[in-house]
Amino acid sequence: MAEPILAGDGLEKRFGALAVTDGVSFEVRAGECHALIGPNGAGKTTLVHQLSGFVKPDRGRVLLDGRDVTRLPAYARAERGLARTFQITSIVPGFTTLDNVALAAQARAGTSLRFWGRAAGDRRLNERARAALAEVGLDHRAAVPAGTLAHGEKRALELAVALALEPKVLVLDEPMAGVGVDEGARLIALLQGLKPRLPMLLIEHDTAAVFRLADRVSVLVYGRVIASGTPAEVRADPAVREAYLGEEPAL
Ligand SMILES: Nc1ncnc2c1ncn2[C@@H]1O[C@H](COP(=O)(O)OP(=O)(O)O)[C@@H](O)[C@H]1O
Ligand SMILES: [Mg+2]
Repeated sequence: MAEPILAGDGLEKRFGALAVTDGVSFEVRAGECHALIGPNGAGKTTLVHQLSGFVKPDRGRVLLDGRDVTRLPAYARAERGLARTFQITSIVPGFTTLDNVALAAQARAGTSLRFWGRAAGDRRLNERARAALAEVGLDHRAAVPAGTLAHGEKRALELAVALALEPKVLVLDEPMAGVGVDEGARLIALLQGLKPRLPMLLIEHDTAAVFRLADRVSVLVYGRVIASGTPAEVRADPAVREAYLGEEPAL
């Protein structure tokens, strides 16, 4: 099997007496969507923060493309190919959709663009931004202020921003949250299309969406992975059914 692109190895994190991450190990491999589901407060977002570098684990390691990045700050992990999306704040409402993506591409490409000179650099930047917008189906909205985009379009824009950074792996924390049924379905289709060349870790509360997209599902409850397997295996697991009892009839 291929080397994992992203892995957590025995991650532990406590907030006071509360073990929010209690010995979590997982892997995301090439071509794979690995979904992490779990009830509210299970520790999903705290795990994402440890992967991206915003929270330091007490124990354990984060491996990105085979390298230990546990001690690297968030920006250094981003430079090495870890993209995290759906931080709403990353959109500048007054800038056009295209400029929002170009800005992100510039942050990544800074020095190499300087090498090309300003005019050529801007051209390459715009090309990359337009390509990312086309990939998420937003090319027709390139010229409008990002603030005027519909909610689902903003989600797609955030995805384009992540793509402009040309990442090796994508970490998505509840991309479907607050998105309508149609927009949600479009996002799923989009992620499905990206998956073969961009492996992803998908944190999601909407289990129906997860079971359509994921190759592997892990279930986090009280900071522990209680089950991991194919969507069918996880759906049939009695411990998972127990953990979701009364909360998630869609399971
Ligand atoms: N900075 C923090 N300080 C103290 N407790 C926190 C902090 N961040 C998260 N928690 C707690 O950790 C638990 C898991 O939170 P979170 O990772 O957001 O779960 P999820 O994303 O699965 O809903 C919750 O009980 C939450 O209150
Ligand atoms: Mg969360």
